[in-house]
Amino acid sequence: MFIWKYIDIPQDDIEKIQQEFLDRLPNNGLFFQNIKINTTHILGLRIAVTVLIQMPPMSGSDNYNIHSDYGSPDRSPLAINIPLQNCAESITKFWKASKPAEIRQTPEGTPYRYINVKDCEQISELKFIKPFIFDTSIPHNVVNPQNVWRRGISLRFLDNPSHLIK
Ligand SMILES: [Fe+2]
Repeated sequence: MFIWKYIDIPQDDIEKIQQEFLDRLPNNGLFFQNIKINTTHILGLRIAVTVLIQMPPMSGSDNYNIHSDYGSPDRSPLAINIPLQNCAESITKFWKASKPAEIRQTPEGTPYRYINVKDCEQISELKFIKPFIFDTSIPHNVVNPQNVWRRGISLRFLDNPSHLIK
């Protein structure tokens, strides 16, 4: 089963997207929100959704933010995440759930599947030191063990990026 993998993206492409997000950083602490940018492609893939993921200082260590993304039936569940601010010390964890998830919504109205940590067993984790591709349908969460906000970029695609996980 594919869970996640680090990937190489040309540094110019990374910096262009990072700059677009930095130019549009919202003045809020929402965990998940859509940010509209001008870049339309990366690695030859048409970008469908561009998301900013924010974690407050010293947050997530209780693993009470485990979820899988609701996704869309006509889109691959594969996402590419790109570091934005203070990501290298943050950890993304992956879990296997023993109970069905509960559908919840972000403040913006995006549905997601919440799973209580007591019904989960950890199966993998990564340090967010560089871009990675992962399956958003596998329960996951972020831990930020630092005194600063951690901000990351998450991209979803119109084209299936499955060739990148082989
Ligand atoms: Fe997610």
